[in-house]
Amino acid sequence: IHEDSNNASLFVANEIASLINQKQKEGKKAVIGLATGSTPTKVYEYLVNFHKEGRLSFENVVTFNLDEYFPMEPDSIHSYVRFMHEHLFDHIDIDPQNVHIPKGNLENHEVRQYCLDYEEKINNVGGIDIQVLGIGRTGHIGFNEPGSSLNSKTRLVRLDGVTRLDAASDFFGEENVPRKAITMGVGTIMSANRIILMAWGEGKADIIQQAVEGEIKESVPATFLQNHTNCDFVLDGASASFLT
Ligand code: F6R
Repeated sequence: IHEDSNNASLFVANEIASLINQKQKEGKKAVIGLATGSTPTKVYEYLVNFHKEGRLSFENVVTFNLDEYFPMEPDSIHSYVRFMHEHLFDHIDIDPQNVHIPKGNLENHEVRQYCLDYEEKINNVGGIDIQVLGIGRTGHIGFNEPGSSLNSKTRLVRLDGVTRLDAASDFFGEENVPRKAITMGVGTIMSANRIILMAWGEGKADIIQQAVEGEIKESVPATFLQNHTNCDFVLDGASASFLT
């Protein structure tokens, strides 16, 4: 629990940067799982700053984003592709070939194979070293809404009504929020070597309490993280305020 989201974001950015630098020394690639939304933006700001200061190179970094709305064109202002470019990729020296974000503009019949291939790409680089997560008010991680099973893999899912409501302002109205998304599964996330879930603000206090202290169950997918051996929740005081 950190004093504020700024300090907490610096803490997370430092851990990611250390891993990247360590892997570079070993001549290995660092594989980072990334999230979008309001929560990780300051982490990305710090990583961009480290790069501009010459302290961090992304030449040996491979990234996999958690999710993308479906349907979604990559050049839409609402796409997670656009989000990631704006907040991170356009400002660092990452090889575009090392960036992976689920495609939101597939034909329906292409989705199944695409999701299998996404999993295979993660496995082929040796799995995810650090997975960064936010949390939705439904308890979703990625877009694994209530009902997602522990072993779920990358797939097309239906978004919860609460999630679509929370996204409504970004889309200028709930009716414009896509009904589906492609997301890594809970199982995909649980396979990461290390997981860092971040949450800020009192709006997340209730779901953080359930995720950390509640019974492990599919109706709150973030509770599955309780069984991960190397997972930390990085919180500000407000999001941690309901913890006992
Ligand atoms: C985004 C994602 C979601 C968000 C969550 C919190 O890639 O996977 O699980 O992390 O909805 O969103 P914010 O950070 O906007 O509160």
